[in-house]
Amino acid sequence: MRHPVTRTPVAVLISGTGSNLAALLRAAQDQDCPYTVVGVIADRDASGLEHARAEGIPTEVVRLGDHPDRPAWDQALARAMARLDPQLVVLAGFMKLVGPPLLEAYGGRIINTHPALLPSFPGAHGVRDALAHGVKVTGVSVIEVDAGVDTGRILAQAPVEVLDTDTEESLHERIKRAEQPLLVDVVRRLTAAS
Ligand code: GRF
Repeated sequence: MRHPVTRTPVAVLISGTGSNLAALLRAAQDQDCPYTVVGVIADRDASGLEHARAEGIPTEVVRLGDHPDRPAWDQALARAMARLDPQLVVLAGFMKLVGPPLLEAYGGRIINTHPALLPSFPGAHGVRDALAHGVKVTGVSVIEVDAGVDTGRILAQAPVEVLDTDTEESLHERIKRAEQPLLVDVVRRLTAAS
């Protein structure tokens, strides 16, 4: 078992239900898990924050509307992250672009999960766009975060079949079932190596 103090600290950013966060927290219960989630930050009072609060993990909400403009929000987000001082930042359903302050502080140590096979269907509606296009196979991508929209280096991908009966919701749920273990595996690999 890796002693808790030697586990690599990971911070997670969310905006929604946090099922990917929940998967990361479940995996962190394993005795051999190389990482520990030291905090969760959301851009809204996301229901997914409850997964962290239930385990006594620090959470913080950094709302865009609480700041005069986007650069001020970017700075506030970077300050909140600095308070957690992670080695790796994981965007798990975080629905905002991270700005220069966070990229400068953690560039190369920020990853994101996207519910499509990038470079296809980037952006906020990857599942809906894939369904609308009529693809028979879509999937999930875990990437490094850079200054673009879902343009970072691809770290891992998994295919997911699209069914004729699929709605955006049914397809996204099936994608999440592939996404959660993929994200956990990437975070385990990146933190075991650090
Ligand atoms: C995930 O599928 C993520 O890829 C996408 O939004 C979803 C968030 O789900 N950006 P959850 O909040 O982790 O349940």
